[in-house]
Amino acid sequence: MIILGIETSCDETSCAIVEDGNLLANVVISQVEIHKEYGGVVPEIASRNHIENIIPILNQTLEDANKRIEDITACAVTVAPGLIGALFVGTCFAKTLSYALDIPCLPVHHIDAHIQSIYLEHKDIKYPYVAFILSGGHTQIVFCNSIGDYKILGTTLDDSVGEAYDKVARLLNLGYPGGPIIDSIAKDGDKEKIKFPKVFLDEGSLDFSLSGLKTAVYYFLKKNKGGYKVEDICASFQKSVSDVILKRIEQIYNRTGCKRYILCGGVAANSFLRKVMKEKISEYDGEFYVPSLEYCTDNAAMVALAAYRNYVNSLITSSALDLNPEAYLNITDFFKIQSACSMPRHPGS
Ligand code: KG4
Ligand code: ZN
Repeated sequence: MIILGIETSCDETSCAIVEDGNLLANVVISQVEIHKEYGGVVPEIASRNHIENIIPILNQTLEDANKRIEDITACAVTVAPGLIGALFVGTCFAKTLSYALDIPCLPVHHIDAHIQSIYLEHKDIKYPYVAFILSGGHTQIVFCNSIGDYKILGTTLDDSVGEAYDKVARLLNLGYPGGPIIDSIAKDGDKEKIKFPKVFLDEGSLDFSLSGLKTAVYYFLKKNKGGYKVEDICASFQKSVSDVILKRIEQIYNRTGCKRYILCGGVAANSFLRKVMKEKISEYDGEFYVPSLEYCTDNAAMVALAAYRNYVNSLITSSALDLNPEAYLNITDFFKIQSACSMPRHPGS
């Protein structure tokens, strides 16, 4: 089975080809340089750039994979969640291709794609595990009992982790996206220098609340004009974020005894977080997996692979007619909707 994956949910346009679960090509064009001047993603500009980029990216992907368009046996596309206009571009493109080529069109949930990105490089990770999906648009902790059998343990009540990085970087005039910049500057800072707040919420809660941290950085800067090194602010901010994440791991371990954890999404590229999570999980003699940097941020390789794994496990419908984008749809509802749809197998698949 040769799957063409398509990802356009935010500001990366990407196509990838996966053959029987093995990645052949993954081409990503990031629009970061375009959105930089606005300090964040402008939805309409993102959609317009997806339209411009999608065909050249498809051609490049086919060339890299050494395949012709007629070789593709299914299309897979991110249908939710994301910027609605951006999702429309990918979904419409995938539907049209599958109609023209008479092949199945497979819907993919963006959070599920991030979770399953881990299998691009670690094919044999066993269930159950707990996934931390931390990105610009999403912050979720998901208990993965088996493929498609997921329970959301926690989510953010306000800003996502990536958003907190981006907003704090903006306060510090560091540029966009803030995550990689703060990550790099913090390496030269003292993380114990400033005590920023850590919001743990109620004892039983596994949710996150990060908007107060951003506000604390704002008031700190107002009060201490130029009195502190930006390196120390970045390192101390990262420490506050990661302390809450480590606390969540501790709570989950105490509650479930689960020893297997994965970290994915754009913020999974963070070097400090990768290090401290690994150390924490090793205290439990547990297993910790994180994708390579190129598969942390949005890409179509994870979309194609998630579609493949879900399809062979009969978890998703293959009917292009049932496939419609949704800006907001949680991962468990996505699989409920899929299981409610009939699943006609395409003869050519
Ligand atoms: O998964 P992603 O590419 O897009 C969404 O689905 O949102 O994540 C983008 C987010 C941005 O907020 C960016 O600042 C953050 O990931 N990010 C990082 C790092 N690299 C990217 N955050 C912290 N440290 C990094 N090294
Ligand atoms: Zn993402």
